[in-house]
Parts: sequence; structure tokens; C-alpha cells
Amino acid sequence: MKLTSPSIILTLIYFLFPTIVAHPVINNIKKQDNKTIAVENSERPALKNSDSVYDGIEQHGDMALKINLFFDSDEDAVSSSRRTDVRQATQSEIDEHIFYTKLSATAYCRTVIPLGKWNCKHCDKSLKMIKTFSSPIDDTNAMILRGDQQKTIYIVFRGFLHSYNDVRDALLETLNVQARKYPNYKVAVTGDSMGGALAVLHGLDLLNYNRTRYYTKNLQVFTQGQPRVGNLKFAKYALSTNISINRLTNKRDLFPHLPSSPPYFHVGKEYWITGDIAGTIRVCPNGLESPYCGNSIFPFTNFLDHYYYLGINVGLCL
Ligand SMILES: *[C@@H]1O[C@H](CO)[C@@H](O)[C@H](O)[C@H]1NC(C)=O
Ligand SMILES: *[C@@H]1O[C@H](CO)[C@@H](O)[C@H](O)[C@H]1NC(C)=O
Ligand SMILES: *[C@@H]1O[C@H](CO)[C@@H](O)[C@H](O)[C@H]1NC(C)=O
Repeated sequence: MKLTSPSIILTLIYFLFPTIVAHPVINNIKKQDNKTIAVENSERPALKNSDSVYDGIEQHGDMALKINLFFDSDEDAVSSSRRTDVRQATQSEIDEHIFYTKLSATAYCRTVIPLGKWNCKHCDKSLKMIKTFSSPIDDTNAMILRGDQQKTIYIVFRGFLHSYNDVRDALLETLNVQARKYPNYKVAVTGDSMGGALAVLHGLDLLNYNRTRYYTKNLQVFTQGQPRVGNLKFAKYALSTNISINRLTNKRDLFPHLPSSPPYFHVGKEYWITGDIAGTIRVCPNGLESPYCGNSIFPFTNFLDHYYYLGINVGLCL
């Protein structure tokens, strides 16, 4: 039978609609005797509605995976991500991600950027605002904060990859002053969405800028809902630096699946939020793409999951 494109679209809508709407990601990690067990059949409901549409997709356990699409070109990608390494996030990791998600969310408040007032809902009073930066044209923004309790200098990004250079030099100037004055502080870079992509880029940029001041052990990157930044060569390079990249993804959030892989590859440790209850974060170890976290639900993505991470609105300063 020859399918016309409207009929293909209608078929897709018919099968996808109930899947996407009726089945939120279920909590697919359970605790037993204080040990964490990853439950295999996390995506059974999604599969039930999609078998007939996605015949060609390889399945692992009961999960519909596009593992063949992600990895067929590169053996390293497969070996860098083993199922046995998958675990549940510890409470301190969860707290850390909540902290950085709130920090990224503050960048969407106009009182914070560009006005430089540290008084919004998620503005952590233990941090001191040092300076904000805005590109005149493309709405790329950044700020530097310092946490003396945390002994950390924080850089927060919001905006677009292509205008990174518009804020880079001014930001480095202020950052260098802080890093010189507080040489034993860590440097942490964060950002949500495209800001997360900027954070990855900036982390690597810092490392290359001055390895005496910014080095693997004192440099950390935390992103939320970050799209892929570069191709395989870029991803491998980023991995080879050993810099700590922690990538928080939420349920069916579409953004981490963009742009498509290959040729783009994620890098770092993925923390995939699987449910609304705090504590349901699955960790896929440091490496390239993992089929066991956010990728396991592809292609059943949605937009809504991009805007609420751990109950925190990222994007509207709510
Ligand atoms: C699980 O952990 C809790 C608190 O840490 C402890 O009280 C309890 O005895 C533990 N249960 C088992 C089965 O180890
Ligand atoms: C790199 O950082 C170190 C330590 O802060 C500093 O002494 C040195 O001058 C810096 N190098 C350059 C080229 O800025
Ligand atoms: C990163 O870690 C690996 C394994 O520990 C090591 O072989 C490599 O030299 C490290 N790379 C850098 C740039 O420090």
C-alpha cells in the first residue's frame, strides 16, 4: 500500500497522541532494602501504543530505544555507557541539582538580569551578586556570583550559543579578578536550555584560557534541559578534558534531544528526572549519549517538561 503523507501524519497523530498525553513518565527506579533497582519496564505504556508505528526501532528490555541510531557509527559510545553503571542519584546530588536549577532560573528575572538586583524568589541569600552581562543584540546574558560559604564562584548563562563572544571578554575580566582574589574557590558554570549549552562551552573555554587558574579539579558545569552542543569530535574532546559536566534532563523534555544525534552528541554525566517526587533521578555515568536515561523515551518527547525542572519554573521567573 502506498501511503500519502497526510495519511502518515494522521497515523502518527493517532498513535502518538494518546501515548504522549496519557502517559507521563513513570517512576522507573524503585528502592528495596535501601538499594536502588532500575526497573526494566519503564516504558511499557508508551510501547503499547507505538509498536505498530515504530517497528524498526530496537528495543531493550521493554524500552523503545533508538540505540542503533545513536551508536552505529561509534564503538566508543557504546562502551562508554553500560547498564550496570546506572544508579539513582544520592540526596546530596539531588540537592545540588535543585540548587543549580534555582540558580539558572534566576537568570530569567529582569530584576536580576539586567538590573542586577539579587532579590528574586529563587535568589539564594548566601550568594553575593558580583556583576551581570548582556549582549546588546541577541539577548545573551550572564552573571557572576560568589558564595563564600560554598567557596565557589558561580557563572550563570542564559541565551544563545552564537553570541557567546559578545559577553565572553567582559565576563572573563570580572571572573579573573574574583578567581585571583579567591584562588582556592571552585568555579561552577550553570545554565538552562541554550544557557546550558553556553555553560558547557564556557567551561571548556576557561580550561583553555588559563589552566593554572581554571583546571579540571576546580571547574564544574551543571546544565538543565541542555540541547546538544557539538559533534562527536567535540564531545570526545570535552570528555578527554575530564571536566565535570552534569547534565540534568527532565522526563520527556524535547530540548536534550536537539539537534539530532548523530551527528550531535551529548557529553557528561546525565541526571534524568523520572518522576515528580523528589529523589527520582536516574544517573547515567559520564560519557557520550546513554540509552538508559532520557534517550530511553525518544521519540516521545514534549515541550512542557522543558519548563518545570524539579518543581522549579525555568524560563519565566515564577
Ligand atoms: C534503610 O535505611 C534506614 C535509614 O538510613 C534504616 O533505618 C533502615 O534500617 C535501613 N533498612 C535496611 C533494610 O537496611
Ligand atoms: C594564569 O593564572 C595564574 C594563576 O592565577 C596567574 O599567575 C598567571 O599570570 C595566569 N596567566 C595568564 C597568561 O594570564
Ligand atoms: C583524564 O583522565 C584519564 C583517566 O584517568 C587520564 O588518562 C587522562 O590523562 C586525563 N586527561 C586529562 C586532560 O587530564
